[in-house]
Amino acid sequence: MKSAQNGTSSNGVKIKSDVAQGLHDLFVDELKDIYWAEKELTKSIPKMIKNASDEKLKKALSEHLEETKSQVTRLEEVFSSIGEKAVAKKCEAMAGLTKEAAEIMEETEKGVVRDAGIILAAQKVEHYEIATYGTLAAFAKALGETEAASLLVETLNEEKSADKKLSKISDSINVKAADEDEQDTETPVATKKKRIVSNH
Ligand SMILES: [Fe+2]
Ligand SMILES: [Fe+2]
Repeated sequence: MKSAQNGTSSNGVKIKSDVAQGLHDLFVDELKDIYWAEKELTKSIPKMIKNASDEKLKKALSEHLEETKSQVTRLEEVFSSIGEKAVAKKCEAMAGLTKEAAEIMEETEKGVVRDAGIILAAQKVEHYEIATYGTLAAFAKALGETEAASLLVETLNEEKSADKKLSKISDSINVKAADEDEQDTETPVATKKKRIVSNH
């Protein structure tokens, strides 16, 4: 069994512990994963914008597309801050989430119901990103990579605010989408109560 203690080599170079090196490798591997995911999103968010009908939703997605492009660049800064080359590795989770988004858009009619589906798909993406960046920022802090940590926290905050914005937009869209169902089943409008039904 290898020692997990920090030490100093014969030439005086500080040797990191096996544990830290293990975490460093996991950190780099996950950075490659989210780097691929963000690049993938620069291609899939435009499809969501094209499919959305609500102006506020289109605007929120367009703004987040610009943020996503800058997050790709920011990840390149993270790689360089830790002396690693920016390499993308296919993220199966994000590939699945963007495939699901495409399926939802295909299976719904353009309008409020598709908009509700786009918000659903987009928030799944945001929650995945929030979990990833939260963990990566914590890994960076634990590894003493302070520059990387602050860059990752910057992106984490953008993902959180994108998620909140989508929840706010879902207030009106979910109710409108439900009303469409009620109109189909001829429920009298007069019996409806005012509802606010937003996503988490
Ligand atoms: Fe992102
Ligand atoms: Fe995002």
